[in-house]
Amino acid sequence: MRRKIVAGNWKMNGSKDLVQQLVGSVRSEAESLDNGVEVVIIPPAIYVSDVVARSGNRLMVGVQNVGQWSSGAYTGEIAAGMAKDQGCSYALVGHSERRQLFGETDDEVAAKVESLVASGLTAVVCVGETLEQREAGRAEAVVASQVKAALDNVVAGQWDRIVVAYEPVWAIGTGKTATAEDAQAMHASIRQVLAEIGAPAESISLLYGGSVKADNAAALFAEPDIDGGLIGGASLKADDFVSICQAMPASTNS
Ligand code: PGA
Repeated sequence: MRRKIVAGNWKMNGSKDLVQQLVGSVRSEAESLDNGVEVVIIPPAIYVSDVVARSGNRLMVGVQNVGQWSSGAYTGEIAAGMAKDQGCSYALVGHSERRQLFGETDDEVAAKVESLVASGLTAVVCVGETLEQREAGRAEAVVASQVKAALDNVVAGQWDRIVVAYEPVWAIGTGKTATAEDAQAMHASIRQVLAEIGAPAESISLLYGGSVKADNAAALFAEPDIDGGLIGGASLKADDFVSICQAMPASTNS
């Protein structure tokens, strides 16, 4: 069965104060939701234990990135096993900001996915085309190749730890959202790619990300292949984030 997920990616934002203000109210909301949505907070790694300490049973916690190694002389990196050890159950991998600003390659993304699933974390694999690629008619091909490359090392028995987040680069932090129809079309295409590579496509959750807000979430989540959202800016305000979690319909997807 596909999980319905709303995950808040704080990026390099937040503070101990924000953890204190926001996590309690999101937690009580997560505990009272009856639409089956799994709510995840993904703060900067340094705040993970503060968030975990306030998260209760229903609120999940994740990290935004891990190194691909399990331990060793890699100053500044954290390992998937360490995130698991601190109570995380999710990790983002291959976010477009990591690909664009930090030069993360498809091979590194694949190695991180391998390390994450081996550690028992759910890897939220981020893919998405640039505006230039979309305008050149290459969006689906670009996304398909990112999906295939990222999942190259996943083996049978690990697919329940894979989530794919489609985030068109031109929609991230810009206030421009893909229309629900365009997002749905890309999600259907990703599901087809998953089937082609032998993954259990119908049971893998696909999230949409890129300027998801309280007022556009319901239309996106109503689409049959959109199983939730990866939320940046709007995850930093408890009310906005909670409204997005509430926008998940109880009965769509399966
Ligand atoms: P945004 O970010 O919601 O601020 O556009 C989404 C993301 O980058 O995950």
